[in-house]
Parts: sequence; structure tokens; C-alpha cells
Amino acid sequence: MSYLMLTGGRVVNSGGSVDADVLVRAGKIEAVGRLAALSIADIERIDCTGRLLLPGGVDVHTHLDAPMMGTTTSDDFATGTRAAACGGTTTLVDFAMQAPGETLLQSLENHRAKAHGRAVIDYGFHMCVTDLYDGATDEFAEIVESGVSSFKVFMAYRGTLMLHDGAMFEVLRKSSAVGGQVCVHAENGDIIDRLAADLIAAGRTGPGSHELSRPPSTEIEAVRRAIQIARMADSPLYFVHLSTEGAVEAVAEARAKDWAVAGETCTHYLTLDRSLYDAPGFEAAKVVLTPPLRTEEHRDALWRGLRAGTLGVVSSDHCPFCLEEKRRLGQDDFRAIPNGGPGVEHRLLVMYAEGVRKGRISLEKFVDLTATAPARQFGLSPAKGAIVRGADADIVVLDPHGSTTISAETQNQRMDYTPYEGWTLPGAIEAVYARGELVAQNGKYVGSEGRGRFLERSTL
Ligand code: URP
Ligand code: ZN
Ligand code: ZN
Repeated sequence: MSYLMLTGGRVVNSGGSVDADVLVRAGKIEAVGRLAALSIADIERIDCTGRLLLPGGVDVHTHLDAPMMGTTTSDDFATGTRAAACGGTTTLVDFAMQAPGETLLQSLENHRAKAHGRAVIDYGFHMCVTDLYDGATDEFAEIVESGVSSFKVFMAYRGTLMLHDGAMFEVLRKSSAVGGQVCVHAENGDIIDRLAADLIAAGRTGPGSHELSRPPSTEIEAVRRAIQIARMADSPLYFVHLSTEGAVEAVAEARAKDWAVAGETCTHYLTLDRSLYDAPGFEAAKVVLTPPLRTEEHRDALWRGLRAGTLGVVSSDHCPFCLEEKRRLGQDDFRAIPNGGPGVEHRLLVMYAEGVRKGRISLEKFVDLTATAPARQFGLSPAKGAIVRGADADIVVLDPHGSTTISAETQNQRMDYTPYEGWTLPGAIEAVYARGELVAQNGKYVGSEGRGRFLERSTL
């Protein structure tokens, strides 16, 4: 069929919602409005009465097929993007890690090869800079010109990923000189390492100690330091995975001064409590992710930060390691448990349920945080993040009257657990279209293989 029309649904964009039909042709949105009466030959019509039509989710923080802490994340580009599609995410921006001994361009090329022909949704990359060798910043212009318009630096993990402040300053100023954006992992790595060593010395080797080694101040101090370093570098800044009230306050102060500081938080910081670290045995390893989960006080501050616009993006930080793999590496020492957890599949529905249905954010704000704003922030607009004429036909059909129960048994993420095990959420993602192709139906992938395209992202 040449045309597809989704009829009778409620189209939700970040700027407002309207009862409308959506006409799709050749992978693009051709029109949005009262179109059902139009007589068009060669058309497939899908009745979406009573359904919400949302822009496909844009998840700008994933780690697929990523080498990390002596292992590799369990989802590759085939499995991870299938899981994303089933959960309503039709675009992702994944972190390309710089491997030890490799140039940035070499590592980027290797990461491209992992995605090419395997990803089933459209994707872009951020380039992680973990070793600022001589000449590294000379490659920035080529990287940005190739459509990888953002970098990531780590203020934690000394000896593997962390850059010292001078190197971070250099990345910031050289990146902004070529129009790039820097994403910062803000935690004070040196203090974390000391606290972690103290815990091990005291015999507290289990996964619950992960949280104790990374108290809120380790994030807040690093956020404030990074803001000042970015000021000195005259560079914009984007904080990934913020988890604390103090970080929200620091970003709000900077933004009130009109400094170019943006921030994201992640689904799990908004919805999961630190008490999961008190679980018996090795169970707490499921939430050994960085920064750690926090208390309700911090969660409330994050939701407030989203409502106020201080934080503009909610990502998944999908960084999955099976529990067995975490145990193999970190059974005797929590410092060796690979940091990260799954989330790309459930980000949209968890945010819809915990945000919209619990009255914390409007439907339009939900769309903004999960699709429109991340697309804009990372140079993917206007093709991604909105249901408007001319955009890619990435559309989620959500039944607000349905419900979904999350379980490791039924998820598509290549994982042996989910931190949302047994959660029953209001809402069901019935169908997902990516560039006009039906790719997922009722939680099952039905699209073609390897259909995802690399997205060249523009600069800010
Ligand atoms: O725990 C996490 N998030 N690990 C992944 C790496 C990172 O810092 O994003
Ligand atoms: Zn990080
Ligand atoms: Zn991450």
C-alpha cells in the first residue's frame, strides 16, 4: 500500500493534543487532521479510536554491545533495538566507548560496524572520550562532521574512564569550537574510590555497599565543579543521569543565569527506591548502577525539576548486565560488579504510568521529555520527536484503557531480570510504527531485520 492512515486517535505532541487522523506515505507524515473522509486509492486504514498517538520515543542514553568493566552489555544492536521498538522507542543515541589504545575515530568506526545492518530502529552515537591522547581533539571536527555531534566524559572511574579536570576542560573547549556538545557523567570518582576502599576494608563487600560508596554529595560536588569548568571553557554542558536534589538545584541556578546547562534524569531515579540495596544476598546487584538509586526526597526533587524545566530529558541509561554476569565478576567485591541496568524497553510505559497517570506530569510533558526535547537537544529535530507534517512517521499507538505487566519472562531485552518485575502499569502499547513500517505489535517485534538507519545529527 502506498498510504497508511491512522484514524480516530488523539494525537499528542509536546505543544498540545488534538483528535486527528494521521496520513503516512513513504515513511513520512503527510498530513495530520480530519482526513478520514478523504478518498485515496491504495491506502491501509487503521482504526485508532480511543487510542493515543504519540511520537516514537527518543532515548538518548543507551549502551548497546558496549565494553564496560571487564565485560560487555548483554544487549547488542539487534536485541536492544528490538526491545526498544517493542516499548515504543523508535530512535536511540548510543554511547560509542573509546577502547584502550584506540583512537577516537577507530573506536567510533568499530561501534558503527556493530550497529550497521543490525539495528532495527534509527540510531545515532555519542563519542565517549576516556583517554585524551595527543591529537585526540584534532579528530573532533571530523567526528562532529560525520554526524556524531556530542561527546561524553566521565568524572568517575579513575584508571579506566575518568578524565582529570584539565582534560575535561580541553574536551569542552575543543568540542564547542566545532559545534559539539559534551555530556558529563558527574560523580567525584576519587572520593567514591576512597569510600569504596573503606567499605571493603571493613568487610562490607556485598552489592548494597555500592550505594554507600556514592552518597549524594559525590554527585552534587561534581555537578557544581563541571558547571564552573564549562564556564571557563565557554562551552555548553549536558548532564547525564542526574539523581539528586542538590544536582537539580545546581542546574537550576546555572540556568537562571542563562548559562547553557542542560540535564537529564532516568526512569529508574524517578521510580525506584534506594531500599532495593537492602535486599538479601546478591539481589541488590540488580540495581548496582551509577549513580545509585536515592530516597523519596530526591525523587520528588527530580519530578519537580522536570515540571519546572530544569531537567529536560528522561532517558533509560540502558546498560544491561545479566545478574549471573554481575555475580561472576563481583560476587566478592562490589566494586567489580558491572555498573548498569536495563530500561530501554520500559521507559515510555513507566513514565506514562508513573508520570501521567499519577498526575505528576501532563501527557504533553511526557511526550516532551521522552521524545521531543531529546530530539531537539541532540540535533534530531524536525525529523524525530513530533507528529507533524514532514516528520518521520514514527508513531506509538497507546491504549490508555489497557494495562501491562512487566516481567523478565516476557520482556524483549536480553536480560535475566528487570527491576520492574511484577509491576502492572496502566496503558498498553498496541502498535509501533517506525518510518511508517509496523515494527511492533502488543509487545512483539514484527518489523524487518536490520532496518535501522544511522542518523547524522546536527550541531546545537
Ligand atoms: O550504571 C551505569 N549507568 N553504567 C553505565 C555507564 C554510565 O555511566 O552511564
Ligand atoms: Zn555515566
Ligand atoms: Zn550510561
